[in-house]
Amino acid sequence: MKILCIASQKGGVGKTTLALNLAYFFAGGGLRVAISDTDPQGSASDLASLLENIDIVNLTDVFDAKIIDEYDLLVCDTPPYLSNRLPELFAIADFVLIPMKAGYLDAMAIKGTIELLEKSMLTYNRLKGGIVMNMTMYRTSITEEVRTLIRETYSIPLLNTTLMQRVSYTRSPITSGVFNSEDEKAQAEIVDLATEIMQHLDLTVS
Ligand SMILES: Nc1ncnc2c1ncn2[C@@H]1O[C@H](COP(=O)(O)OP(=O)(O)O)[C@@H](O)[C@H]1O
Ligand SMILES: [Mg+2]
Repeated sequence: MKILCIASQKGGVGKTTLALNLAYFFAGGGLRVAISDTDPQGSASDLASLLENIDIVNLTDVFDAKIIDEYDLLVCDTPPYLSNRLPELFAIADFVLIPMKAGYLDAMAIKGTIELLEKSMLTYNRLKGGIVMNMTMYRTSITEEVRTLIRETYSIPLLNTTLMQRVSYTRSPITSGVFNSEDEKAQAEIVDLATEIMQHLDLTVS
């Protein structure tokens, strides 16, 4: 089983949105996919009622290595209450995806998460990571400016895929992902992102 962890200590950058859409992409491609339980206050069960073909697993079982053989891929979303457990998660992850918005403050805000990841990568050779720009806007040069800044500032690679601000993503939790929407551009973005991640994870879908 491969573990894809979606992390950023900053909220509202699209971690849960990308976790769901990537999980749907991989499940649609025939992989046995689980999402880790994301909320002790019970919203995970709310999420469960929305999920099709994707199981929710308890993070404790992941740490105990109890579910290793049952799934091909575990997508691990990291809500704020898990922030202090990121090092533990990075220790078992294969790939850490760090979503960010295209802004200068946003570029600075991922510094802490990047430093944690870099530290983990020194210990765990298998571990890889990538930054992805999410919620970018049309007709502005800011995205390219921030992409340049990210490349110059951080050693973690910036993925080529950029996801734009699209209503279909906002709606995607109730449509079982953008693949059930009419938004082909959003679908193409998720396919591109998943393809980049698969190259790093040595995964293939049918
Ligand atoms: N590419 C996108 N386009 C439009 N809305 C998005 C996009 N990505 C995320 N959102 C929206 O932004 C908000 C925050 O996303 P969420 O996934 O909850 O972030 P996080 O889990 O990092 O806190 C949600 O309302 C979500 O629907
Ligand atoms: Mg979230």
